[in-house]
Amino acid sequence: MEKTNREGFASNFGFIMAAVGSAVGLGNIWGFPYKMGMNGGFAFLLIYLVLAIFIGIAVMVGELVIGRKTGLSPIAAYRKLSKKFTFLGYMALACPFLILCFYMVLGGMVMRYACGYLLAMFGVDTWGVADISTYFGVFTTNGTSMVIWTLIFIVINAVIVAAGIGGGIEKFCNIGMPCLFVILLIVIVYVAVQPGAMGGYQFMFGFNIEPLKTDFLTVLKTAAGQMFFSLSLGMGAIITYGSYLNKKEKIQKNAVIIVVMDTLVAIMAGMIVMPACYAFLDGNTKGGPGLLFQSMQMVFHNMGGFIGNLMGFLFYFLVFIAAISSSMSLLEALTSSRVDRNVEAGKAPNRRKIVIVFAILVAIFALPNALDGIGAGVAGGATLPTPAELFGMTDAVKGWNDCWLDFYDMLSEGILMPVGAMIMAFAIGWIWKMDFVVEECESSGCKFWGKAFFNICYKFITPIGMLVVLYGQITSYFF
Ligand code: PHE
Repeated sequence: MEKTNREGFASNFGFIMAAVGSAVGLGNIWGFPYKMGMNGGFAFLLIYLVLAIFIGIAVMVGELVIGRKTGLSPIAAYRKLSKKFTFLGYMALACPFLILCFYMVLGGMVMRYACGYLLAMFGVDTWGVADISTYFGVFTTNGTSMVIWTLIFIVINAVIVAAGIGGGIEKFCNIGMPCLFVILLIVIVYVAVQPGAMGGYQFMFGFNIEPLKTDFLTVLKTAAGQMFFSLSLGMGAIITYGSYLNKKEKIQKNAVIIVVMDTLVAIMAGMIVMPACYAFLDGNTKGGPGLLFQSMQMVFHNMGGFIGNLMGFLFYFLVFIAAISSSMSLLEALTSSRVDRNVEAGKAPNRRKIVIVFAILVAIFALPNALDGIGAGVAGGATLPTPAELFGMTDAVKGWNDCWLDFYDMLSEGILMPVGAMIMAFAIGWIWKMDFVVEECESSGCKFWGKAFFNICYKFITPIGMLVVLYGQITSYFF
């Protein structure tokens, strides 16, 4: 199949940085530590690693193959492979859209934290970052402020994506990703030398599988959802980046690099947050979704003075880089679907206009998340009713209807993603067959390795694994 005539990544390094940039995001630095903290530390890490090796790599290869073989974004790619599967392309677009609607809000909050610490470093604590008991609450219940920061974050994304793959996304990630690694290392070393930090490493790496005996399904489902989200799988982003990948480059090798780097960053983020909980928060790792904000703020507060503010700034700046390189891949997945459509119809691509339209749509649908302060505002006089109130379900709060973030997350990460990944793996394993994957991978002149392993992954492990995850999600949401 011919590639469409469109610009791609300038180098393989650029591709890897962009794909790692997509993978490494709030999922790694916000989601991974808090989920690990709530799900038994080592036990969670163990299941996560098993899933990344046995499912993550194969699905990553599958998505890169679909993208590169067709040279198209998800909808057009699936349509080209088989009309019957076009719906998968639509699902792979609904997902990034829904995710962007809360990701942009979180991104805005991270920016506000970074700016708050930057000001505090220079002695102007205008936004009250030093006041740990009120900063988060005051900010998240202030609808106007939440909306403004969300909009700023959306505009930054739009500017970069409008500049295109090579000019915008690749350039940002080539610099941003190496910086992120360096800052992570600095903060890790700082936390490591704090008294009490040892407890955090013990929690993460000390062999303890007790939590699996009591609640295996919850750990499995949380780790699997986290793994897919963190690797940007099942949401069109990797298919899209794959479509820009040069035919010369090796898909399997790149997939392994992306999975290893993403997992490494998640573990590194854990090695900041977990020891910090032991050093500064008496070993309380169960801060939940607020861990990145409220608990880490407490950590920087305890450090105190200029160093506390500097570390706070570095940390949130790092989260900002990670978040933006991920959200731009989601916006690119949406944008390229429309660009491809225009090109197919023989029209001008119109990238800029498309980016603006999607940015506006995301801004509108992000409003509920911004206005209820990603759920935090619910208790503090939210401007909006919760989904439960809106749907008249106040008696049946199930973890998906108590705030808008949970509602969007249930639809995307909870349902669309596992269903999409399950059908994709099934289609590769049983309909298009292994040769489909092998042929594309070998087109760069290298030998495909582990054919039998990949075959079992597509045919059995991934579809069955996803079915179990879906079962776990649905029972926890609705029963
Ligand atoms: N992987 C990103 C993260 O960990 C989020 C993301 C999901 C990005 C899906 C693109 C596609 O935060």
